[in-house]
Amino acid sequence: MDTIHIHGGQRLSGRIPISGAKNAALTLLPCALLTDEELILGNLPRLADVDTFGHLLNQLGVTTSVAGARGNEFGRRMTLSAARITSTVAPYDIVRKMRASILVLGPLLARSGEATVSLPGGCAIGTRPVDLHLKALEALGAEIEMTAGYVKARAPDGGLTGGQISFPIVSVGATENALMAAVLAKGRSEIVNAAREPEIVDLCRLLVAMGASIEGIGTDHLVIEGRDRLHGARYDVMPDRIEAGSYACAAAITGGEIDLMGAKAAEMPAILHALRDAGVAVTEHDRGIRVAADGRLKPLTLSTAPHPAFPTDMQAQFMAMLCLGDGASLLTETIFENRYMHVPELVRMGADVEITGRSAVVRGVDQLVGAPVMATDLRASMSLVLAGLAARGETVVSRVYHLDRGYERLEEKLSAVGAAIERRSDG
Ligand code: EPZ
Repeated sequence: MDTIHIHGGQRLSGRIPISGAKNAALTLLPCALLTDEELILGNLPRLADVDTFGHLLNQLGVTTSVAGARGNEFGRRMTLSAARITSTVAPYDIVRKMRASILVLGPLLARSGEATVSLPGGCAIGTRPVDLHLKALEALGAEIEMTAGYVKARAPDGGLTGGQISFPIVSVGATENALMAAVLAKGRSEIVNAAREPEIVDLCRLLVAMGASIEGIGTDHLVIEGRDRLHGARYDVMPDRIEAGSYACAAAITGGEIDLMGAKAAEMPAILHALRDAGVAVTEHDRGIRVAADGRLKPLTLSTAPHPAFPTDMQAQFMAMLCLGDGASLLTETIFENRYMHVPELVRMGADVEITGRSAVVRGVDQLVGAPVMATDLRASMSLVLAGLAARGETVVSRVYHLDRGYERLEEKLSAVGAAIERRSDG
């Protein structure tokens, strides 16, 4: 199993190209199921989850071909064609690897009238039920039953029909499934209290490029006029705001200066706001965002919440950064019930963090010390890499497969701006 070895204390500086967004790619890929024509997706990040999704689509009968990046470019282009859907079953073997597989449920049901998808089950950060996904599809006329760990969904004869969907809480995935189903449902659908994440906006833009009719894009109230069919399209995945935010924290925690090439400030308002509050200089320019820090960071009070508030996917990275803050910070995680798995590992590196319920008090220390640490989930593993970049001595991060799910060529990007970081394969 691979490990990542980091010798901390280097001040990082230079440019990091931001890849396409994982969480946008995972909802754009299943849109291929919504048309019998070709869908060409560009700026796709080279990540384990994107590969897994490609395999899942192949299982359903979607043909895929990839045009790789030239030289040391990042990202790639995939041509997908679902001319014929040969299976409507998303098997446990794939779904257990990647819970985002649930995002084939809506488009399969809308296009084929039926879908059987393994229930994702819980994950390290929380129980993560899918009840809201199912309720949304029932509001479009689907009949749903659960058998042997699978969701079996069936559309009425004649297909799904438009309906009113009102979410009691904001769910990114349930909004995505509802959208991908409603665009082919007969008549008008409304989604109330929809998620407003930039990845949802990216999905809406692709669907409109495929011929869908969606009003209210970017708001929590979406109105969809269903179409009989959608056509093919060519579309580039948006830049990854969480990857950009993570590397911004790398600049901040090492007192460095990094240009996040391709990052879009308008898609990460709360992240940039929090960085500025911590005393980090943030400058938007026409090719991205420059982040520069010198001196100790100011403590913060942050609470995670749906977009446009501070994203839960940045909580762990900010915690690592604030471990070296000048005073005590208070973080509150409101989205997932178990998203502090990185805390004991940071404490092993000399951090002072105390958890009470959903809140964590982070008292800044003068220095972190390198240690062997274990990754538990994607963002937690990035917080350990960040701590390692600032720590005295060597940090060894194990279970790095968590990182490969969401960060494209992380060591290459970080060493290009001066980090002493390498991956070792321990057979
Ligand atoms: C998406 O997950 C992202 N994943 C997550 O990113 C992100 O943390 C999350 O949105 C919140 O921003 C992808 O896009 C692939 P939710 P998702 O449905 O859609 C509860 C990362 O690090 N809920 O918005 O699964 C749920 O338990 C990952 O890149 C229900 O109760 O998140 C949670 O508490 C991690 N019932 C809350 O809603 C449901 O049917 C928000 O979950 C659905 C969700």
